[in-house]
Amino acid sequence: MPEESGNIIEYGSYSGGSAIFMALLLKEFHPGAQVYALDTFGSRPKTDKAVDMHESGKFGDANVGRIRSAADSLGLDNLHLVQGLVKDTAQSGYDEAGSFGLAHLDLDIYHPLKFAHETVRP
Ligand SMILES: C[S@@+](CC[C@H](N)C(=O)[O-])C[C@H]1O[C@@H](n2cnc3c(N)ncnc32)[C@H](O)[C@@H]1O
Repeated sequence: MPEESGNIIEYGSYSGGSAIFMALLLKEFHPGAQVYALDTFGSRPKTDKAVDMHESGKFGDANVGRIRSAADSLGLDNLHLVQGLVKDTAQSGYDEAGSFGLAHLDLDIYHPLKFAHETVRP
């Protein structure tokens, strides 16, 4: 039986709280496995008033440089910060990782969340 993937993909990472936490755990319990953290990291994606409850501007203060520094200071070379809209960046994460053991869907906007849910399965 092939070994299961320990890689994690996170959709919606904001300031890196859960991504750093998961990368720390993987480092300890699944060495070699990688975390792919997808977010715009600062620029605020558009919401759709018909389905979204968040106002534009929320989560707009993330800083990718600060997250990278925090990760580096913890020795987290297994954390990949993938910046941009998930519809544009997810495929590169899928291609690079090959497969995932866990997908953490933490987007706050309906359409990209639906996209993540539909495309991560295969
Ligand atoms: C609830 S927060 C994530 C919280 C994060 N997991 C943590 O540990 O604090 C939701 C995030 O989804 C991101 N987001 C929403 N729509 C997005 C999209 N289309 N592409 C990339 N990121 C998006 C926002 O920028 C925001 O940082």
